[in-house]
Amino acid sequence: MNDLDVRHLAESEYRAAHELFVASLHHTERTPEERWARSVTRYEPGRAFGAFLGGELSGTAMSLSSALEVPGGAVLPAAAVTGVGVRADRTRRGLLRALMDAQLADLRERGEPIAMLHASETTIYPRFGYGLASRTYRLAIASSLARMRPEVPVGGSVRLVDGPAAEELLPELYARIATGRPGLIARNAGWWATRLCDTAGNGGSTRIAVRSDESGADDGFVLFAPSKTDHRFGDGSVTVRITDLVGAGPAASASLWRFVLGLDLMTEVVAIDRPLDEPLHWWLEERRGCRVERLDDDLWVRLVDVPTALAARSWGAAEPVVVEVRDATLPDNAGNYRIGPDGAVRCAERPQLALDAALLGALYLGDVAPSTLAAAGLIEVREPAALDRADRLFAVPRPPWCGTGF
Ligand SMILES: CC(C)(COP(=O)(O)OP(=O)(O)OC[C@H]1O[C@@H](n2cnc3c(N)ncnc32)[C@H](O)[C@@H]1OP(=O)(O)O)[C@@H](O)C(=O)NCCC(=O)NCCS
Repeated sequence: MNDLDVRHLAESEYRAAHELFVASLHHTERTPEERWARSVTRYEPGRAFGAFLGGELSGTAMSLSSALEVPGGAVLPAAAVTGVGVRADRTRRGLLRALMDAQLADLRERGEPIAMLHASETTIYPRFGYGLASRTYRLAIASSLARMRPEVPVGGSVRLVDGPAAEELLPELYARIATGRPGLIARNAGWWATRLCDTAGNGGSTRIAVRSDESGADDGFVLFAPSKTDHRFGDGSVTVRITDLVGAGPAASASLWRFVLGLDLMTEVVAIDRPLDEPLHWWLEERRGCRVERLDDDLWVRLVDVPTALAARSWGAAEPVVVEVRDATLPDNAGNYRIGPDGAVRCAERPQLALDAALLGALYLGDVAPSTLAAAGLIEVREPAALDRADRLFAVPRPPWCGTGF
């Protein structure tokens, strides 16, 4: 399109881009000043793009600087792509494509091997090389069935903290304990400033509890928000929504769950974005007290630099396979890769499997097996014996989990 121009946004344009983005998500009110003062800290120089039609800002996309833990424990620089929106009267004219092209080219130049996002719709991003790489549960637990088994670890202590105290505590605590699982990402200062905006003490309703172990060291936290259907307790209900719960290990997580499930005057706890292997069903005396309400998309991953990303993760034990990767958006990635327990390198051998970059993104953290994608007709299998080997190479001991909205 001739009059379409995509460029980095200047600082003076961040507010307009933000309002354009939130309007594209059907938020009808302008962001209050106090909230904007926090949201603006998510904008980092050179990471926000605008698409201009006829000189007018009509679409935007940005990214937060972050990092992603990959199978084997390596942590790679990664761009957390967010703030993607196009004005409702300018959609389907190629603005998103132009923004995505510019952003991916920029990330390659920056040397960030991975881009990641949460998608509003599943159909948008595969064409740009993103694949769904992890999933989460939304859980609901009725208070009447929330009793934990006696075997569940007890100990330590849980205390409420307010928003300002959490701003001091949580960034360091999260960085220290959120490790040991593929899919975990770094949360930068702008992310925290925005996330803790609506907490108690900062003028909001989200509550925060921090857990300490027996030695007094903090080892977990939970963010939760109660909502009441009636001002009286007689006939109304109170739902407590957990939006973030991270523990250094099972004892910390169990303590935090026990604390929330034990709140007085509460009817139900709903928890979003929970890892698939959280043992809550096994912690409860009545396992049916915990309902899986939904299986949600978690992180979408795009390998911006395929050789670097493949070399960084560990691989399972199996004879190597040769995989052909196709990548229309970033053609430098295209080619054949030999993947084996000792690593992954480019090669000139004949490929046994072939797939698009988006499928490689879906496989990367180990959430889905190559044989599942092959059964769905998404991977081309040229040598059937290679599929079983690929399953073992891509497999991970724990399901990936991000759990960080951005
Ligand atoms: C999603 C959105 C950014 C797309 O912007 P756009 O400028 O209309 O997209 P483009 O015209 O560049 O389309 C690029 C391609 O994506 C496709 N596409 C765009 N939006 C799509 C959607 N919502 N669902 C499925 N396909 C979509 C187009 O058909 C086009 O396909 P092609 O490659 O086969 O030609 C825009 O519709 C929007 O702002 N939606 C509301 C906010 C939102 O969901 N933001 C994303 C947050 S993660």
